[in-house]
Amino acid sequence: MSTAGLRVAVLASGSGTNLQALLDAAAAPGARFALVLVVSNRPEAGALSRATQFGVPTATLAREGDDAPRLLALLAEARADLIVLAGYLKLVPAAVVAAYRDRMLNIHPALLPAFGGPGMYGRRVHEAVLASGARVSGPTVHLVDEAFDRGRILAQWPVPVAPDDTPETLAARVLEAEHRLLPAVVGAWAALGAAAALSFTAPALGPAPALPVDLADALTS
Ligand code: GRF
Repeated sequence: MSTAGLRVAVLASGSGTNLQALLDAAAAPGARFALVLVVSNRPEAGALSRATQFGVPTATLAREGDDAPRLLALLAEARADLIVLAGYLKLVPAAVVAAYRDRMLNIHPALLPAFGGPGMYGRRVHEAVLASGARVSGPTVHLVDEAFDRGRILAQWPVPVAPDDTPETLAARVLEAEHRLLPAVVGAWAALGAAAALSFTAPALGPAPALPVDLADALTS
């Protein structure tokens, strides 16, 4: 594991395919960020074994009680600069949000501010998108605040909804975009610093699921 560049800690509850995208990006030549810790609230989360395979330290949280003291200690010990929630299903304690305000990102599998909030995760998000008749969905990367899916939006990637989509086919198409968007945002954050990253604007919705222009520029300059 490289220790150069931005030190990124990831919180994940599930299989960790977004974590995998970050692990792959951090292992690529010229990467400007390193994963220094992966924390899960579920000991059986696939994310933990993915991290271990890449030599990244892992930790789990107790099932019950206040996570804040342990999370704060783990993140401080890892000297994390940026925290990424990649499929983390628990609300981050307010004390942790306060300690890492404007340095904590989440990825959500729909275009916020629609289709977010408590209980909107996994299949339910895509079911709601399909039920609404929306023709466009796609991932959102946003800052984390005290409420689920509410913080400032940093980047989105429009993905078309097909007329015959099921929640599964839509989820798979959005997930593919997630796996490119999340490393792009973290890479741009590492390359440009937080101030520049915080001035990202969501791209205009368009039919082409291409990288947002501001991120593409950041990554190629
Ligand atoms: C992703 O769809 C992400 O947007 C959401 O949770 C899911 C996690 O998937 N927050 P994975 O564990 O990264 O495969």
